[in-house]
Amino acid sequence: MRPYEEILENNRQWVEEKLTADPEYFKKLSQGQSPGYLFVGCSDSRMPLNTFTKTNPGELFIHRNIANVIRENDPNFLAVLQYAVESLKISHIIVCGHYDCGGVKAVFYGQAKGHVKKWLRPVYRTFRSYAPELAKLSTDKQRYDRLAELNVIEGVKRLSRHPIIQKAIKQGHPLHIHGWIINIYTGRIQDLKVFG
Ligand code: CO
Repeated sequence: MRPYEEILENNRQWVEEKLTADPEYFKKLSQGQSPGYLFVGCSDSRMPLNTFTKTNPGELFIHRNIANVIRENDPNFLAVLQYAVESLKISHIIVCGHYDCGGVKAVFYGQAKGHVKKWLRPVYRTFRSYAPELAKLSTDKQRYDRLAELNVIEGVKRLSRHPIIQKAIKQGHPLHIHGWIINIYTGRIQDLKVFG
């Protein structure tokens, strides 16, 4: 682990680099946001979405939680979704999972406890309903990585049905919901082609 002083020093260096390239950078940044995408990802420290997609501050409106679970009763996510759709007028929502997801693996191996277990309930449901499909795969790694994909697919389905989304579509707001997976073994993002 790096000492925290180094992290602060990195920030000072980054600010200098930005200002060297554009002295107005922070002035422009502070004038407001109009991101084109709502990105829902996993809290996993290996998933800094801006880094994987070479996007800059201001481009992605981001919500992250353990195993990128879409829960219709999560007040945090619902506030993010409502603000993204109704105020920021974002047209593209990307639900993005990843392979080797600790949350998904905890469900697969039955190891989640307490708050984490409670949080992961929708993933348990997905695991149960796709058990026959997963059983056909030959290794545990293939099974939990497929479960990570299924968790994204089911999340996109739940999101598409949500009243906030349905209301926006009825009002003529063009909305596209994408399901993606980050292949952590290669760094590449794959579009799972689930369209909400
Ligand atoms: Co994860």
